[in-house]
Amino acid sequence: MSNVKSPKPKVKLVQLHDLKFRPMISAAKIKRRIREIGSALSQDFEGKKPVFIPILNGAFMFAADLVREFRGDCELAFVQLKSYAGTGSTGEVRVVLDIERAKIEGRHLILVEDILDSGRTLHHFLQHLAAQNPASISTVVLLRKPAAVQFPIEVRQLGFDIENKFVVGYGLDYDDLGRNLPSIFVLSE
Ligand code: XMP
Ligand code: MG
Repeated sequence: MSNVKSPKPKVKLVQLHDLKFRPMISAAKIKRRIREIGSALSQDFEGKKPVFIPILNGAFMFAADLVREFRGDCELAFVQLKSYAGTGSTGEVRVVLDIERAKIEGRHLILVEDILDSGRTLHHFLQHLAAQNPASISTVVLLRKPAAVQFPIEVRQLGFDIENKFVVGYGLDYDDLGRNLPSIFVLSE
């Protein structure tokens, strides 16, 4: 027996601008979960040729990995949304890059989003899509902050529920930095 304390394992922090972030979800864990989600979607949408709709910029990496786990025919159409915080909780969401109507009408849509925070962005965009008569709309989200949700969104497939803290990596940014990190990091207090 020894009284010598084993040294704390070193956590590798990442610095972006003025803030430090610590590891939260490893690349391997993300990969495993996406494989499961891809498998479930492949079964659910067999023969339906769904249109995956990644919401730029944040969902680009998630979507790229997700569609590679989809077995069968599918299409891709990208959108870009801009949210305005406004004065308080009633923010507006503007569609900056939209999809041609032919890719929506009568099609099975799979929205791909990086993170569900308040739910405002998806809530507005789902209404925008629904107005164009798709055959169905499903939502796939990599991360969700249950404590932050103000607009409840029905999620078909979820990667991970996380605590209500700011995260970066795997597509998510802090002031444009951190999107290229292959795993998820959380703000370190
Ligand atoms: P809402 O509140 O509309 O927010 O659900 C969704 C969008 O807000 C961004 N967001 C984050 N980005 N780390 C980020 O890098 C976070 O922890 C975070 N929480 C929300 C993100 O762009 C998402 O699409
Ligand atoms: Mg985003």
